[in-house]
Amino acid sequence: MYKLIIITSLMIASSYFSCYPQEKTKITFLGWPDPGGGFEEVISDFEKENPDIDVEMIKGPTSTDTRETMYVTSFLAGEATYDMVFMDIIWVPKFAKQGWLIPLDGWFKEERKEFLPGDIQGSIYQGKIYRVPLQSDAGVLYYRKDLLEKEGFMPPQTWDELIKISQKLQNPPHLWGFVFQGKQYEGLVCNFLEILWSFGGDIFDKKGNLILNSPQGVQALEFMYKLIHTYKITPEGVTTYEEEETRHIFQEGRTIFCRNWPYMWKLTQEENSPVKDKVGIIRIPHKEGKNSFSTLGGWGFGISKFSKNKSACIKFIKYITSYQAQKKLHLKSGIVPTRKALFSDEEILKLNPHYPDLYQILLSAKPRPVHPEYAQISDILKRFIHKVLLGELSPKTALDKAELKIKKVLKE
Ligand code: GLC
Repeated sequence: MYKLIIITSLMIASSYFSCYPQEKTKITFLGWPDPGGGFEEVISDFEKENPDIDVEMIKGPTSTDTRETMYVTSFLAGEATYDMVFMDIIWVPKFAKQGWLIPLDGWFKEERKEFLPGDIQGSIYQGKIYRVPLQSDAGVLYYRKDLLEKEGFMPPQTWDELIKISQKLQNPPHLWGFVFQGKQYEGLVCNFLEILWSFGGDIFDKKGNLILNSPQGVQALEFMYKLIHTYKITPEGVTTYEEEETRHIFQEGRTIFCRNWPYMWKLTQEENSPVKDKVGIIRIPHKEGKNSFSTLGGWGFGISKFSKNKSACIKFIKYITSYQAQKKLHLKSGIVPTRKALFSDEEILKLNPHYPDLYQILLSAKPRPVHPEYAQISDILKRFIHKVLLGELSPKTALDKAELKIKKVLKE
């Protein structure tokens, strides 16, 4: 009798729960517009396997600066708006120093060796890891293979060669020589650094001394100004371009060369792309006698200290950064993996004959200054570089002013 009562009450309880499903744990993050729909698909795969967790990706703006501001605003208010932080590599020192992220060392240790070293290095702050890398990034130069081959040109290795080819083949405003990200935002700093490094300059030396205001710094800025105003191979509109504007120009067949991140490859190779099968990728050029460098970029997931659902976040981050999910994100959205093994995945190699070269570029990509005040340093740089592009300040005056302001930030 006693047994019967228990069984009956269990039956009543189970029918009660099946009528009223348990509430799901909801976890959110601020992401990007998700071109190709890769994130949406991976999230829905995860939710099917984990019916108790609901992942919400808030589609944010494309610019990294705006998304950073959105995260910072919510952290400053102490809100749990975002459980997970989909983070640009440059945010790590600042967010970690502020205590907005929880360290992930407890569960992300052994697997680190499967990832590209630069992505892991950029996820660590003062010995603790705060980010699991999902997307690797490094600046590359795209070129119109068909146009160069037709005129017997080899892909350029130096800036002089790029200028020469552009001036020979361009026909502005229908076909420009070279476009890059020249708007006043983080992308401009990435572009400037690649040029500065390729002229032999830098922002800090190995000991951390500020060396931005150097002859190489002046030459790099002069070169950027001249692309638009002297060599006239870059449209004036470049001062308003982010990544997607430059991609559209390249994909519509309106420029011979374009500096961008590797994500653009897949989109230029789509069936309806006017430049399908006409595109080549090489390293960023350099000044004669110097070396090429790419800026290291990239995105990954951290967990907000304000989240009330940290274990669900861990489950999701493990899932989305797994081999299979990264592969799917690549196949759908062209996202560059962070797991080394994916660079020798046959299916990926078939679609990306340039991946062995890209792998080497990623291994040698240079990080932006790793500093908790990087955001302030970068704000100063973008403002003054942009003024040079617009012809409002000479390169030397811009560097004098930027140097003074950066020194002030470093002293604070
Ligand atoms: C890419 C890079 C990121 C960089 C941004 C600049 O998204 O991955 O690191 O800050 O471009 O626009």
